[in-house]
Amino acid sequence: MIIDILTVVPEILNSPLNYSIVKRARENNLVEINVINLRDFAKGSYRQVDDYQYGGGAGMVMMPEPIYRAIETLKQKRQGYDEIIFTTPDGETYNQQTANYFSTLDKILILCGHYKGVDQRVRDHLITREISIGDYVLSGGELAAAVIVDSVVRLLPGALGNSESALTDSFQDNLLSPPVYTRPAEFNGWKVPDILLSGNQKAIEEWRLEQSIERTKRIRPDLWEKLDLD
Ligand code: ADE
Repeated sequence: MIIDILTVVPEILNSPLNYSIVKRARENNLVEINVINLRDFAKGSYRQVDDYQYGGGAGMVMMPEPIYRAIETLKQKRQGYDEIIFTTPDGETYNQQTANYFSTLDKILILCGHYKGVDQRVRDHLITREISIGDYVLSGGELAAAVIVDSVVRLLPGALGNSESALTDSFQDNLLSPPVYTRPAEFNGWKVPDILLSGNQKAIEEWRLEQSIERTKRIRPDLWEKLDLD
């Protein structure tokens, strides 16, 4: 899979995409991730990428020309993308289903939103998916892009080791994960539930499912209702 990320602050993306599972997946060539500076496609000595908005109002807007030039250049180089994603708080809310779908694609481009937003013509003509990672506003779309990339890369076949499994992640079945424990069996007087020490695998799986259901009902009643209807 190839993931290209177009941004005005490439520095933000260096660290989150160079550790742990994502780092290993890159080293094992499961994914190629390229962080591209939008300013490289801007003209003039100032390499301007944003400008005042028509009609007035606070905040700068990302200009269409550098983005168009960047996307067209990259599209040619990649012979097209499966999706061109824009990270923005007014996009559709990101979830595990969308992550699963993105992980099946060969080539995606993520444009990170910045400033007040991007000229609407870019959204109308160049972008194929607009994604928000939640109902709050970040200073830029880079962290949202990092969230998308991390959640997608861990789903690529071979990204997780034998002891890890994406199938048991929270949300994969619309249930939250059950609690987990490790040694010692008693710490500070706090005990690991007896059932986990029982060796009875069937009873353990039943207990885990009960715990998942209880947690989901209590913490995410919205998820539980969805599950009930499906
Ligand atoms: N840019 C700013 N806030 C964002 C959000 N919540 N999701 C995606 N991109 C963003």
